[in-house]
Amino acid sequence: MSDNAETQEVSESQIAVHWREEEYFPPPPAFVQQANASDPAIFERFSEDKFPDCFTEYAELLTWDKPWDTVLDTSNAPFWRWFVGGKLNASYNCVDRHAAANPDKTAIIWVPELEDDETLYISYGELLRQVNEFAALLSDYAGLKRGDRVTLHMPMVPELAVTMLACARLGVVHSQVFGGFSGNACGTRIADSGSRVLITMDGYYRAGSMQDHKVKADEAVAEAARQGQHVDQVLIWRRREGEYQSQTPIVDGRDFFVDEVIGKYAGQEVTPVSLNATDSLFLMYTSGTTGRPKGAQHSIGGYLAYVTGTAKYYQDIHPDDVYWCLADIGWITGHSYIVYGPLSLGTTTVIYEGVPNYPDGGRPWRIAEKLGVNIFHTSPTSIRMLRKVGPEEPFKYHYHFKHMTTVGEPIEPEVWRWYYNFVGKSEAAIVDTWWQTETGGFLGSTLPGLQPMKPGSCGPGVLGVYPVIYDEDGNEVPKGSGRAGNICIRNPWPGIMQTVWGQPERFIDVYYRKYNRDPNSKDWHDWPYFCGDGAVQAEDGYFRILGRVDDVINVAGHRLGTKELESAALTVPEVAEAAAVPVIDDIRGRMVEMYVSLKPGYEASPEMEGKVVTAIETEIGKIARPKNVWIVPDMPKTRSGKIMRRVIASVSNFADVGDVTTLANPEVVEGIRQHVQRTKVAKGDAPRELSETELAEIQAFGDV
Ligand code: PRX
Repeated sequence: MSDNAETQEVSESQIAVHWREEEYFPPPPAFVQQANASDPAIFERFSEDKFPDCFTEYAELLTWDKPWDTVLDTSNAPFWRWFVGGKLNASYNCVDRHAAANPDKTAIIWVPELEDDETLYISYGELLRQVNEFAALLSDYAGLKRGDRVTLHMPMVPELAVTMLACARLGVVHSQVFGGFSGNACGTRIADSGSRVLITMDGYYRAGSMQDHKVKADEAVAEAARQGQHVDQVLIWRRREGEYQSQTPIVDGRDFFVDEVIGKYAGQEVTPVSLNATDSLFLMYTSGTTGRPKGAQHSIGGYLAYVTGTAKYYQDIHPDDVYWCLADIGWITGHSYIVYGPLSLGTTTVIYEGVPNYPDGGRPWRIAEKLGVNIFHTSPTSIRMLRKVGPEEPFKYHYHFKHMTTVGEPIEPEVWRWYYNFVGKSEAAIVDTWWQTETGGFLGSTLPGLQPMKPGSCGPGVLGVYPVIYDEDGNEVPKGSGRAGNICIRNPWPGIMQTVWGQPERFIDVYYRKYNRDPNSKDWHDWPYFCGDGAVQAEDGYFRILGRVDDVINVAGHRLGTKELESAALTVPEVAEAAAVPVIDDIRGRMVEMYVSLKPGYEASPEMEGKVVTAIETEIGKIARPKNVWIVPDMPKTRSGKIMRRVIASVSNFADVGDVTTLANPEVVEGIRQHVQRTKVAKGDAPRELSETELAEIQAFGDV
């Protein structure tokens, strides 16, 4: 069954949603004065009648080897092609051109997690040297060439940016897997992308201790082999040159330390390959409704133009800013708004190795003060966490943010106000940027110098992006109606992924089939992009994003597919059935709870629960660790045998389970409810009362 078929009857659009209208916050005048976008004429330049040519304004921020002939080619709809005929190199745009103009300017500041370790300042000139040398190694030592895919499984170190930019220099398509993912998850992505080289690091610091990361490379290579993909070379950066942080042996002829090999390439220069705008820059895997992850395939020209333009106008990046995004480069936020967007604009971007609250809740503010950070970007989960561990901490430090971003999850207005008043000291413009792995860059946000902020709403569509809310039948849900529906984007934009790597049918099924008006149409108007999010549009045109309408659980801003979680639980031999549901969490937004039933002859026990947890950590990674595993005698099911996730989700969240009389086994529900809720109450883990939108989400979860 396709993803789309699975999500078809989602009833989000029938849900009436009410919430208190929040007051506006005007952008601070000092911000407006210096903003990149402060003249309302920009809205005119990006008005719908100027589409698609409006986006040449973004493309012109780049240096092209050859200009494009066609701005947007729709002839193979919905596989859009931007800036066709144009040639460029992303590495050149992010490094060489700034190194030539300003070699001593700092490109990257790297902050190690241990506070006593030295902060590293890498100039554009130095970055160019490192990128050149590593590109020489990739091409000569690893034999990589244009169009090859290579998997990266690296932590938050500057070597990751160097590796990405070296790949981009050669036209090698990088596929960075989030460092916190397990070896098996990495192996699956190696196999899917067909990478024969894995680039990793021996270890890194997290929450104060050195993690053995190389051990995951061995698991990844083994898993890839199981799935038919042979990895012949593993390149290992070392966290501390000359020292090896891992316990795992080096495999002769396969594993190489970069610091031992790179000397051979000292001082070498690699000419950036002149690539087509429509060639691919990278793959970024994300979860969907089926177990197989989707490799969102991003272009060079369209993507780089889009992240550069949106970083300039929405994050207000100027070359002399010090910009810090706390996301991980292993997610799309880090690709677009730590590496490619900021470096393309020639600014200084900060990379921080560790967790924000190490060793205490004041750490981010000390970093900001020391480095003179003036643009700060993070997620609601980090904001909630920092607020919990040190609500007054920001005032102890003398930093000043002119601009702040939030991304990845809906932010509660109350949390937004703390961010504004405490972190931003009421001086900063905030943008709540709504977008996705698939979309390359922002979709919804206020333009910070020109549109007021409204806590809890991302704002209208960004420049040149025209969102619309449809009900299940494709009727437009009007703004101000108070009704939720499926938010879609009416038009293509340059940052949109090109396709799902190796699965073009899935690309159409998941993102376009639902609201496509004519499968043969070459007219973009007939192909609204289905985002998979529920949303409401207020009278003023601002969107409030309610969350996913498919089987995806957004844990701390990370997308986890229920099918992936359930398949992981089912690798435990004793488990007969498994279901994953979200539970509302005050810090992480949502957490996962697993329900499993066992095969006959097996008994529930803490060991059995532990096995399920271990299986999930092994198959996916620690980020997916369930809050609880509930072993139940039987799952509540429909007469056709489908597990009723909404019933168990309601149980986990202490919500009304609704009418269960039509189930095949209604009698099991009460037993499960008593067991789960009593245990939670005993542990002091009963959730607060849910808001109306949270209730709606839980009571409709998996309701397909
Ligand atoms: O549900 C939306 C939520 O995160 C999903 C995309 O996740 P991912 O591809 O991992 O990318 C995260 C970083 C862009 C969306 O479908 N989401 C993202 N940003 C917001 C958001 N929900 C509410 N408000 C946001 N600002």
